[in-house]
Amino acid sequence: MKTRRLMVCAARANTTKPDRSGRETNNVQVADPSSNSSDLRAPVFAVAPMIDWTDRHCRFLHRQLSSRALLYTEMVVADAIIHGPRERLLSYSPAEHPVALQLGGSDPKKNADAIRIAGDYGYDEINLNVGCPSDRVQSGTFGACLMREPAHVAELVSVMKAASRVPVTVKCRIGVDEQVPEEVLPDFVDRMIGAGADAIWIHARKAWLQGLSPKENREVPPLDYGLVHAIKKSNPATFIGINGGITTLEQAADHLEVMDGVMLGRAAYHNTNLLAGVDAMLAGNDPSPDFDWLALRDRMMDYAETVITAGGRLHHVTRHMVGLFQGFAGARRFRQILSSDAMKPGAGPDVIAAAFAAVDLSGEARTLAG
Ligand SMILES: Cc1cc2nc3c(=O)[nH]c(=O)nc-3n(C[C@H](O)[C@H](O)[C@H](O)COP(=O)(O)O)c2cc1C
Repeated sequence: MKTRRLMVCAARANTTKPDRSGRETNNVQVADPSSNSSDLRAPVFAVAPMIDWTDRHCRFLHRQLSSRALLYTEMVVADAIIHGPRERLLSYSPAEHPVALQLGGSDPKKNADAIRIAGDYGYDEINLNVGCPSDRVQSGTFGACLMREPAHVAELVSVMKAASRVPVTVKCRIGVDEQVPEEVLPDFVDRMIGAGADAIWIHARKAWLQGLSPKENREVPPLDYGLVHAIKKSNPATFIGINGGITTLEQAADHLEVMDGVMLGRAAYHNTNLLAGVDAMLAGNDPSPDFDWLALRDRMMDYAETVITAGGRLHHVTRHMVGLFQGFAGARRFRQILSSDAMKPGAGPDVIAAAFAAVDLSGEARTLAG
């Protein structure tokens, strides 16, 4: 990895700021709410919100690999927080901090109520979903279709800010359907900034709301990194992060030369060991090749024990671990053990030990950065 890139990360990581609880932290992603300044927060490496994937067990695993990555929840719909099983939807381990709650909803009062309820759970940030294209989300008129209603999203953000004790951020697309991103995105971002958004994460591709599945909407519309970089350059005082199609730490470091934050979704989930290099990358060092995998095994076994004791199943934890050893000898056997044995009735943490024993931990992953 080029030294220059790493130095950019190191220089941007060097500011130690108090977070909103008064703790001193190098995790600069927890910003002063009264500021709207990217200096307080950059550089940030985030793991994207992903429904069915980034649940609390997944986030616990990710946190064991990086103390600095900002972790997002799955999208939680405001109505579900207000009327549904709050404790199940919102509770998480304190070990997961910093963790951001992603909210789906377009009714200002409901979003504000959901934020007040979530306030008791101590999330470090509230994020508004303006990027999800699924039919279910469109029928609730939130998610990506809100890209068509920037004035309404601005109102949402300002109401959410008033209800929140922590930063309120937005995750959006560069546009939807026939919109011209070069025209609509600058205006959308201006309005978010005007409404007080503390950060804007931009998935660098359009969503096509008709005719494409959510999966296709993560692959088919072309990526436009240049436009997102240009948006950052024209808004130097606002935290702006980029998302979409980033698969290696080297690519992440490249984006961080321009952007305040980089957010990885599928690569972080499927190639989980990549996260073991994040702290070193943000500190300006080469991604560390000597991660303590046995300590990770022990922590995950302890955690699984706690989950099982509380009525959960081993599989709830281990399903997020199958991407851990991409590139290691024994990775296939590791995956097999986790996918079969962890599903059996009564399976316990010893399955994790057996799976780790199948991996050659003395050999390094092909590359932590890749
Ligand atoms: C399984 C899955 C679930 C997702 N769920 C959400 C979600 O709840 N909220 C959201 O804003 N984006 C969601 N996304 C989109 C991701 O956050 C991200 O924007 C997208 O995958 C592009 O990033 P990537 O190329 O790094 O994966 C989801 C993506 C996947 C693969």
